[in-house]
Amino acid sequence: MPAIIVIGAQWGDEGKGRVVDGLGQQADLVARYNGGDNAGHTVVAEGHKLQLHLVPSGILHRQATCLIGAGVVVNPMQLLAELDQLAELGIDVGPERVKLSAAAHLILPTHRALDGAREAARGAAAIGTTRRGIGPVYADKAARTGLRASLMADPEAFAERVAEATRDHNRLLQEIYHQEPLAAQDVAAKYCDYAKRLRPYLVDGSALVAACLAAGRTMLCEGAQGTLLDLNHGSYPFVTSSAPIAGGALVGLGFGPRAVSQVVGVGKAYTTRVGGGPMLTELLDATGERIREVGGEYGTTTGRPRRCGWLDLPILRYAAQVNGLTGLALTKLDVLTGVDPLRIAVAYGREGKRTERFPAEFGADELAHWQPVYEELPGWAEDIRGARRMEDLPAAAQDYVARVQEAVGVPIILIGVGPEREQAIWSR
Ligand code: GDP
Ligand code: IMO
Ligand code: MG
Repeated sequence: MPAIIVIGAQWGDEGKGRVVDGLGQQADLVARYNGGDNAGHTVVAEGHKLQLHLVPSGILHRQATCLIGAGVVVNPMQLLAELDQLAELGIDVGPERVKLSAAAHLILPTHRALDGAREAARGAAAIGTTRRGIGPVYADKAARTGLRASLMADPEAFAERVAEATRDHNRLLQEIYHQEPLAAQDVAAKYCDYAKRLRPYLVDGSALVAACLAAGRTMLCEGAQGTLLDLNHGSYPFVTSSAPIAGGALVGLGFGPRAVSQVVGVGKAYTTRVGGGPMLTELLDATGERIREVGGEYGTTTGRPRRCGWLDLPILRYAAQVNGLTGLALTKLDVLTGVDPLRIAVAYGREGKRTERFPAEFGADELAHWQPVYEELPGWAEDIRGARRMEDLPAAAQDYVARVQEAVGVPIILIGVGPEREQAIWSR
């Protein structure tokens, strides 16, 4: 009956897609539990390079059913485009394989417009959102004015609701943000078409989860974003509007904590962040530039350059704590090849004080007051992309990994040495 939860341990883009794919052969159900098409999860395997925004990263594993859970917010246009792209590659994405929870909320074009308008209004204090409508759609959900996927079962009645919601949003767009309204009837007509196509995918998601667990099968829960983007426990207000942490899997899929057997945190061997907010180990120099280029650190969803910096241990320890990590997947170790010496933030300092703890609850303003305290480690020059066992790594790379494992206090179950499924060292 095990549920295995895979979460991002930093600010997103840690390589969750590749880890879910890597664990996918043992899964009967792979379920996304939070976020929307702000996520971009990459899977490089079987001759494909998939950029998934909504479809779970288990899609290449034929035995696995893929569920988009109740906690996810779905842009139907994006979901249909993604299903079409996958189908063109010959991947089975029919309704017997891919399922959409009837309780998932739907993103409207006005949610995206409001996201953009609110970001523009914030000026210099902008969050740097993906402008996919994530904040506004979760706000509607919390305000109990949102549209759930279940409404698509009756496309004509659904279209009415879409038109109504669009008109409500238009008033905000016009009166508060002085933006052009969207044509409610046109939007409604499009959404009516989307509903006709997506209707066969609707399921009772938590019933599917319950049946999987009761039958003793394995469910992989796929988180989007990362711990520091969590609405409650991240670096507020520079966060997303859902719960990427492990607890979010229970909320977003509707099952209890006793079913959870493992919580795998995914962290890069360095740190990246897209969007605004403090990042203590950020490198604004040639080393940061090098990591960005070698690591291909450009957003999967928006193409924006990611901010790059040294590994931050207070962040990983914090992720271990709030998620109850049982294992850590350390990705992109290969990207650090040739960087010598390497630095790792082991703690934060401020006016003679030192803390090993990431000060998340006091928010982004508090974080900005601290400085990283670094430890230096020797780098390595050998190409490690062919390494498949720990012993294949040069001593300095082994020491780097050992230092992280010891400081975080969680066993490292995977070391990523390249983007391909096979380019990993597993120790289970
Ligand atoms: P996610 O959002 O957490 O699934 O991560 P993204 O897919 O947004 O970003 C991770 C990027 O790193 C993708 O381009 C992956 O193909 C790539 N990647 C994952 N693991 C490794 C690794 O171990 N080495 C290298 N070089 N690239 C990796
Ligand atoms: P995956 O699942 C990295 C960031 C945005 C912004 C903040 C809020 O691929 O790891 P939002 O659009 O959610 O309101 O933006 O969160 N963000 C991500 N950063 N990876 C992601 O997803 C992200 N999803 C959102 O850049 O700073
Ligand atoms: Mg990503």
